[in-house]
Amino acid sequence: MAGGADRSGSTSPHAAGSRQHADHAGPAGSEVFGETDEKILVFGAGGHIGEPLAKFMKYKGRGRSLRLATSVPERMTAMQEAFPDSEIICADYLKLEDMRRAFSGIARAFVITPDFLDEKRAMANVVAAARENPSLRQIVRILGDPPGMTLAKVPERVLAFGRGTAIQHLQARQVLEDSGLPITYLNIAAYLMDDFVRWGEFIRSSRTLIMPFERHMTWIDSAELGEAAARIILSRDDRHLDQVYHLNNGSDYLNFAEVADMVSDVIQDRVRHEGRTEFWLDLFGPRFIKRYGPGADEYFREYFAFEQKFHFAFHRSDILERLLGRKPKTLRAWLEQNRHHLL
Ligand SMILES: NC(=O)c1ccc[n+]([C@@H]2O[C@H](COP(=O)([O-])OP(=O)(O)OC[C@H]3O[C@@H](n4cnc5c(N)ncnc54)[C@H](OP(=O)(O)O)[C@@H]3O)[C@@H](O)[C@H]2O)c1
Repeated sequence: MAGGADRSGSTSPHAAGSRQHADHAGPAGSEVFGETDEKILVFGAGGHIGEPLAKFMKYKGRGRSLRLATSVPERMTAMQEAFPDSEIICADYLKLEDMRRAFSGIARAFVITPDFLDEKRAMANVVAAARENPSLRQIVRILGDPPGMTLAKVPERVLAFGRGTAIQHLQARQVLEDSGLPITYLNIAAYLMDDFVRWGEFIRSSRTLIMPFERHMTWIDSAELGEAAARIILSRDDRHLDQVYHLNNGSDYLNFAEVADMVSDVIQDRVRHEGRTEFWLDLFGPRFIKRYGPGADEYFREYFAFEQKFHFAFHRSDILERLLGRKPKTLRAWLEQNRHHLL
């Protein structure tokens, strides 16, 4: 076992340092509700996955246990208002001192990263800080790869960029696995349903779903992903360690023409799928360059081709259902609840 952190985190609710609290059966294992001394660090806690995770923890009586992190100082006030009992910190993965402060004294951590982060550097900092903390019991890390992906399978054209969505999670996993730290990997083997908030613009203006290539994809609601991560953390069950869970809603395995048909039914107006890459490059290319830097348009074109090549790797998974203890939200239900983004 590397560093100070060990894997002896007991499944017992009476693990060292905990105060009086209740222990309940939950879908992800025995859940510990109410106040305990176990501190839980959540990165991206103002975001669309980390915030639902934090809200679920708060709902389960763990608000005082939370150390909620953002890398954007301006976000801290709103987070403090939303979570008055929790500790709010500003921490950047790329700064070792920030990671030392963030990991100090915590028992569990949720780690989520943005596209194009320098994962080798970021995860090296996470590992260095985690190793200095003897009370660390678990890191839950978000990945975003086609199931079964390895660096050797990534096409040369995408690999050549040296970083980016196609390889960053594989790079991160290598650093984390080499560390020997106690980690649970949650792989988003799907598209996030709230991607439609961004895509809605062209559905509204030209009734077009612009997505390069016709291919199958699976789907997941970001809030349910956050809740599943929270349930794993609450469960304190060591059997989640070393697992790689491929998560999606277990029901929608659709090509984009079928998704366009579904959107059409929901808004009761015809929406078509536009899969030609030139369209995507023209409309979305400049935005990706603005967000991720020069070459990002070309990069994502190659990335979508890579996803298309591996689209048979995506499959319906029942793991999210088992973690939540209920049927996850369907894409149709999400679209109906959020049709105002599409009209
Ligand atoms: N969109 C999809 O359909 C999809 C599908 C599969 C997988 N994924 C994967 O899902 C993951 C999350 O995607 P997302 O769109 O939710 O990403 P995101 O919002 O851009 O970033 C995730 C979180 O990371 C935090 N963060 C950003 N930079 C940071 C830094 N330097 N230090 C510490 N924290 C930092 C952000 O919070 P602050 O800005 O508040 O710090 C944010 O909440 C990505 O890794 C992506 O590859 C996405």
